[in-house]
Amino acid sequence: MMLEVREVYRSYKKTGNGFRRERLNVLNGVSFSIRAGECVGLVGESGSGKSTISRLILGLEKADKGSIFIEGKRVSEWIKENKGQMSVVFQDYTSSANPRYKISDVIGELLKAFGENEGIHGKVEHLLEKVGLPLSIANRYPHELSGGQLQRVCIARAISMHPRLLILDEAISSLDVSIQAQIMDLFYKIKKEMNMTILFIAHDLQAVAHLCDKVMFLHNGQIVEQIATSNLTDVQNEYARRLLYSVIPFNV
Ligand SMILES: Nc1ncnc2c1ncn2[C@@H]1O[C@H](COP(=O)(O)OP(=O)(O)OP(=O)(O)O)[C@@H](O)[C@H]1O
Ligand SMILES: [Mg+2]
Repeated sequence: MMLEVREVYRSYKKTGNGFRRERLNVLNGVSFSIRAGECVGLVGESGSGKSTISRLILGLEKADKGSIFIEGKRVSEWIKENKGQMSVVFQDYTSSANPRYKISDVIGELLKAFGENEGIHGKVEHLLEKVGLPLSIANRYPHELSGGQLQRVCIARAISMHPRLLILDEAISSLDVSIQAQIMDLFYKIKKEMNMTILFIAHDLQAVAHLCDKVMFLHNGQIVEQIATSNLTDVQNEYARRLLYSVIPFNV
């Protein structure tokens, strides 16, 4: 199993409201697993805890209870032993790229950090090509790019080490609709050409159905249903059905 999330709980301190030590329970026993090479979508409404799950998998924070295993090892241990083998693309591409770096350095950041010295230039050019950007932008700075271009740069960086696990956390949400479609095509190409396990997080069920083999629904802090994309219309859970029927009219 590439990724196994077992009975994970996560709560946060509620802000404001002085003395009471109330906590917001975001994840209430989340369990799921993803096999190597699978592309799995995670949908849920805003604030349902999708990014919390991605931060836990990335080792950026810890669960209150429960455990997460990557290839059978605890996250922190796996990360130490597999540098650069898990990466993420976030929604907010503007803060994901260091504004003082040239595009070539933004894309080459992980390659450099993980000790590649030879041939970075050639690799960056290859990555630019792969994500559909002209080589001429290599010397520009992030603020000189459009949102869609900059997100492509972040994607190029994320795949630069050819990670085994790629997390896409609302990676198209800040883009306008026509650019979203182009970036979805790019993800589709990456999925087909590079043999990675992908966790695609989105609130847009249509985008998920387009890319993923399987869909997981997050609601009230739990995965309430998991289903193969090909059987999507068979979902049983009430929340999942509501979400499904909210998009079906646009498909016909
Ligand atoms: N560090 C934190 N401290 C306090 N509350 C937090 C913290 N991080 C997240 N939360 C809260 O936890 C809940 C889940 O947040 P999370 O970012 O995981 O949601 P999400 O499903 O990714 O939402 P979106 O679709 O808007 O990205 C939210 O109510 C959020 O306000
Ligand atoms: Mg989020």
